[in-house]
Amino acid sequence: MAPSPNDTTGPRHVAIIMDGNGRWARQRRRPRLFGHQAGAKRVREIVEACPDLGVKYLTIFAFSTENWKRTQAEVAGLMTLFRRYITKEMQTFVTEGVRVRFIGDRRRLDPKLQELMDHCETITAVNTKVHLTIALNYGARDEVARAIKDLAREVKAGKLDPESVDETTLTRFLDTHVLPDPDLVIRTSGEARISNFLLWQSAYSEYEFIDTLWPDFTDEIFAEVIGRFGKRERRFGAVPA
Ligand code: FPP
Repeated sequence: MAPSPNDTTGPRHVAIIMDGNGRWARQRRRPRLFGHQAGAKRVREIVEACPDLGVKYLTIFAFSTENWKRTQAEVAGLMTLFRRYITKEMQTFVTEGVRVRFIGDRRRLDPKLQELMDHCETITAVNTKVHLTIALNYGARDEVARAIKDLAREVKAGKLDPESVDETTLTRFLDTHVLPDPDLVIRTSGEARISNFLLWQSAYSEYEFIDTLWPDFTDEIFAEVIGRFGKRERRFGAVPA
C-alpha cells in the first residue's frame, strides 16, 4: 500500500548495506575474513537495538549476486561464516522473538546452508518482535527477473490476465512480498551507492550514507541515524502540508 505523506514517525523498516569489513581488517593488518567476523558480531547488537528504537523490520545485505566475483577463499570463508552464524544464533533468535527470513536466490548456495536457512525460518516463524531479513545471494535485478519469470508462468498457465498486471501484481512475486517497503536505507563505510539492493522496494526510502565502517557501527550510531530520520519530511511525491 502506498505510504501517506508526512508520516514522520521513526522508521518501521530499516535496510542496511553492511559495508567496510575489508577496510576495517586492512587497517588492522588482518585478513579480510577477520573483518567479516567482526561484522557478523555487530549484527546481533543492531538486531537487539531494534525494539527500543521502534524498528520492526530489519533487512541486511549479507551477500550479493555479484559477491561471487571475490576470491574463492573469501567466498568460502563467508559461506562458512554464514553457516556458523545461523547455527550459533538460531536459538537466540527463537528466545528473543526474532523472526528470520532470507531473500535472494538460494539455489546456488550449498545444500547444507540452504537446509539451515529453511530450518531457521521454520523455527522462528511464530516470532513477531523483530522481523530480520537476511539477503543472501541477493541482487535486486535478479529478484525482479525471477519475479517476472514467475509472473509470466502464471500468464502462460492462464491464471493471470496480462491486462491486470500493475505495480501490486509485480510486488506479489518479489522475495520481499510479505515485507513493507524500507523507510530508511543505511550504507556504512562512506560509499554512496546502492549496489543492486532492494531497487524496487526503496523507490521512496530515505537514504543515509555513513562514514563508519560496518564493524564499528554501534547501537549508539544506529540510534543517532534513526533519530535523524524523524526530522525528515517524507512527501512521496505530494506537496508539503
Ligand atoms: C561488505 O564489506 C561486506 C560483505 C560483502 C559481507 C557482509 C557480511 C557480514 C557483515 C558478516 C556476516 C553477516 C551475517 C548475517 C552473518 P566489504 O568486504 O566489501 O568491505 P570493503 O569494501 O571494505 O572491502
